[in-house]
Amino acid sequence: MSLKKVAVAGATGVVGRQMLRVLEDRNFPVASLKLLASERSKGKTLTFKGEEVAVEVLSEDSFKGVDIALFSAGGGTSKKYAPFAAKDGCVVVDNSSAWRMDPEVPLVVPEVNPGDIAKHKGIIANPNCSTIQLVVVLKPLHDAATIKRIVVSTYQAVSGAGSAALAELDAQMRDCLEGRPVQCKIFPHQIAFNCIPQIPQSGAFEDNGYTNEEMKMVNETKKIMGDNSIMVTATTVRVPVHTGHSECVNVETLKKLTADQARELLRKAPGVVVQDDPANQLYPLAVNAQGKYDTFVGRIREDLSHPSALEMWVVADNLLKGAALNAVQIAELL
Ligand code: A2P
Repeated sequence: MSLKKVAVAGATGVVGRQMLRVLEDRNFPVASLKLLASERSKGKTLTFKGEEVAVEVLSEDSFKGVDIALFSAGGGTSKKYAPFAAKDGCVVVDNSSAWRMDPEVPLVVPEVNPGDIAKHKGIIANPNCSTIQLVVVLKPLHDAATIKRIVVSTYQAVSGAGSAALAELDAQMRDCLEGRPVQCKIFPHQIAFNCIPQIPQSGAFEDNGYTNEEMKMVNETKKIMGDNSIMVTATTVRVPVHTGHSECVNVETLKKLTADQARELLRKAPGVVVQDDPANQLYPLAVNAQGKYDTFVGRIREDLSHPSALEMWVVADNLLKGAALNAVQIAELL
C-alpha cells in the first residue's frame, strides 16, 4: 500500500479517538494526518504514534490534498462537509447515518460486501454499529441456507451515544449510589441501573412505531446483504454498559440449519469467534468484547418454536468493529 494523506473528522470524539488508535495499531500507511473537530477543540492536541498532533477546525477547505477522510462527527457535519471532501478528490469513509441509504453510496462491511466499495463516487458509508455485528455473523448463514427473517433485540452500550452520554451514565451511577437525585440531559430517562427502549435517545418515533435505530437495522441489513427479500424486525435498547453491544438474534432460514452446522459455518467465518460452551458458562460478554476486533457469537441453539430457525447471542465492541475498525478496514481495501 502506498502512503496516504489521511484526515479524521470528529477526531476528538469517542469514535474519532478509536479511529486514531486503530490506524496506529494496524500500521495504516499514513503519510500525513490531519485531525479535525469543532471550534470547541481549538488548541487541543491528540497523540498519534507518540507525536502530538494539533486539532484543526473543520472547514470546507480542510480536505485539499487529503487522500482519505474518516468522518465521525455526526450526521449534519457529514452531510455538509463530505461533498466538499469528495469534490477535492478525497475519498470519505463516513460513520454517520447521513449517506447510508443513498443509492449512489456503497454501505460496506468488508467481511460481507467488499466488492461494493468499487462503486463509490467519493463517499462510502460505514453502517450502523448494531447492523455491522449482525451481518458479519449472518452472512455465512445466509450463503449456506438463505435467511428469510431476522428478529433482533439489542442491548446497546452508552458509548454509542458519545462522550457526553458516557459522562452522564457515570454521574448518574455515582448519584444513585450516594443517594442524590439524578440529572438527565442526554437521555430522556435515567440510564443508570435502567434500560431505555429508545435509540437514538433524542429521535422521534416513526409513524410505524419503530425508532430510527430500529429502521436502520431493517434497511441497512438488506442493503449490505444485497437482498431486499430478507425480512427484519428489531427492538433496540440502551443499557447501562460502557462499551460492547449485545444482541439476541432469531434467524429463520429457508433450508434448515442445525446448531452444530451453524457453529461450524461460523467457526470458519472471517472476523467471527464462536464462544459457545454453556456447560462451562462460556458465551460472549460485552466486558470481554471491549477492545477486541472480532464479533463474538454463542448461545447458538435451534428455536424450539420453529422448524427452521436458530437463536443466538452476538456481541462486539461498538466503537471498534461497530465503528472505527470497520471504517479503517474500508480504508485498507481502498
Ligand atoms: P468537538 O470535540 O470539538 O465537539 P462524540 O460523539 O464523542 O461527542 O464526538 C463528536 C465528535 O464530532 C467530536 O470530535 C466533535 O468535536 C465533532 N463535531 C461535532 N460537531 C461538529 C462540527 N459542527 N464540526 C466539526 N466537528 C464536530
